[in-house]
Amino acid sequence: MDFRQEIVKALAARTGLTEDQIDVWLEIPPQSHMGDFAFPCFRLAKTMRKAPPMIAAELADVLEAADYIERTETAGGYLNFFVRRSAYIAGQVKNALTAGSSLGSSDQGEGKTVIVEFSSPNIAKPFHVGHAFTTILGNSLSRIYKHLGYEVIRMNHLGDYGTQFGKLIAAWNLWGDETALEAHPINELLRIYVKFHDEAKNAPELELQARDHFRRLENGESFEKGLWQKFRDLSLKEFNLVYERLGVEFDNFNGESFYSNQIPEVIEELKSKKLLVESEGAQVVMLDEYDLPPCIILKSDGTTIYASRDIAAVLYRDKTYNFHKNIYVVGTPQALHFKQVFSVLEKAGFEKSKDCVHVGFGLVKFPDRKLSTRSGDVILLEDLLNESVDKTYEIIRSNSELRQTDIPEQEMREIAEKIGLAAIMFTFQKNSRERDIVFAWEDMLDFEGDSAPYVLYTYARAHSILRKAVSAGYISSVDELPDDQILDKLVSDDEFALAKLLDTFGNAVERAAAANEPYMLLRQVINLARAFNRYYHNESILKTEEVELRRARLAVLQAVCTAIRTGLELLGIQAVERM
Ligand code: ARG
Repeated sequence: MDFRQEIVKALAARTGLTEDQIDVWLEIPPQSHMGDFAFPCFRLAKTMRKAPPMIAAELADVLEAADYIERTETAGGYLNFFVRRSAYIAGQVKNALTAGSSLGSSDQGEGKTVIVEFSSPNIAKPFHVGHAFTTILGNSLSRIYKHLGYEVIRMNHLGDYGTQFGKLIAAWNLWGDETALEAHPINELLRIYVKFHDEAKNAPELELQARDHFRRLENGESFEKGLWQKFRDLSLKEFNLVYERLGVEFDNFNGESFYSNQIPEVIEELKSKKLLVESEGAQVVMLDEYDLPPCIILKSDGTTIYASRDIAAVLYRDKTYNFHKNIYVVGTPQALHFKQVFSVLEKAGFEKSKDCVHVGFGLVKFPDRKLSTRSGDVILLEDLLNESVDKTYEIIRSNSELRQTDIPEQEMREIAEKIGLAAIMFTFQKNSRERDIVFAWEDMLDFEGDSAPYVLYTYARAHSILRKAVSAGYISSVDELPDDQILDKLVSDDEFALAKLLDTFGNAVERAAAANEPYMLLRQVINLARAFNRYYHNESILKTEEVELRRARLAVLQAVCTAIRTGLELLGIQAVERM
């Protein structure tokens, strides 16, 4: 039984308000002595034309009659109510166990398509930590929307077009090394690109060559097209290694180049609406009424730019997917760019520009930059992942020596890989995305703090208790379902606290989607882990004498495992059963 839903229904029936409205107002008080749920009656004073305490008294009668409510209290304009504890706990545990990995899912998004564009690195450039941020956030958002029933299209808008490809082709002609390219494509492409910039300072004709190559590329000349394709394929191969390691997938890699031949339609559209004006030889759309600088559509030499390709992309996405939302997970420095793109579309009468959302994020900072980097100033994601995994391995190895757990070397390496990656993913999602991230290994790998190792360790511990229960013959498998009636035995404060977290799990998923903030779900997972550890500290689960109570407590463990595993999964993190 979904208590919240029942309460919402009862209040809606009595007040005549919609269930959605009641649901928004229904609160969970900060302290448990104030009730399990609280309804602010002063919100109704106007519509019901009564003083809040009177409304509270009337509503109290309705709820007192319901058998799932133990008692109600009025305080100020609030109606506080206490649910019948054992029924509540049993209901939540049962719900989590039957839901399994679909805990917290819903059909909110049925029939709606959400496009999540994320990662979008640039061909021939290293995959740095900024791209890690979008990759990790975008991956989680896609999973979260999917959980809520949306059709999700994961798009990787590769930076695979633009004048820099002219430079790359010119540089390749002069200094390219085929063997080096095969071995480490991005290194080699970066090398010649950097060299191009150095040399071009004293040889301006290089810039002319580059521009010429780009124009030929736009015209589809086979020499340029061939090289471009090769650079793209090789870069993507390297990016795919990172995606595979992180468990990230895409539905398509329609990068900037994909839209370049759709620009003429954009131009036509803007022309027909009389929005294109000439400015210093370029074709632009003025955005004064939005307080924005003009958006350049075509450069003075007639070539397209980043913004024009993005405008074409929005139109293509709408035609192809009829999106409900079109989300861009891209760093905050590009906020102006997206405002311009969406405003041009709005000005052109494209109504769904309001369903295009830029989901920005902050910077990544390293207080102790002892991280070894291979390419100058940028920090490569690969190096960061390796460092995290190495450090994790050291911790696990010394723990294992201390506790004499004898985990085989190979398994220790595998666990370190999972936890090391999890620590990085966790860090990127721990706080509101617009905040800058400060990487501090002591915090990230702190087995006691709000960290991935802490949550994973909690999960592994809960799971090991279940395995022990199987060995002892208390349950036949770790996911065997209990008999419903024994769940009524659960009444303790700790069990109640855990039940509430199971109850609000779905709400955390919904909030994370509504604000495009995975941290809102991550906090729920941390709270579950903390509440479980308190429970485990206070109750001896396996040593519980009474058979039914012991079985009921194991069910709580099963439910908590389900919730933590599902939450982590939605955050792109794989739980580990042993560590
Ligand atoms: N490739 C760009 C970069 O690395 C990000 C692309 C963002 N997406 C877009 N539709 N403009 O900065």
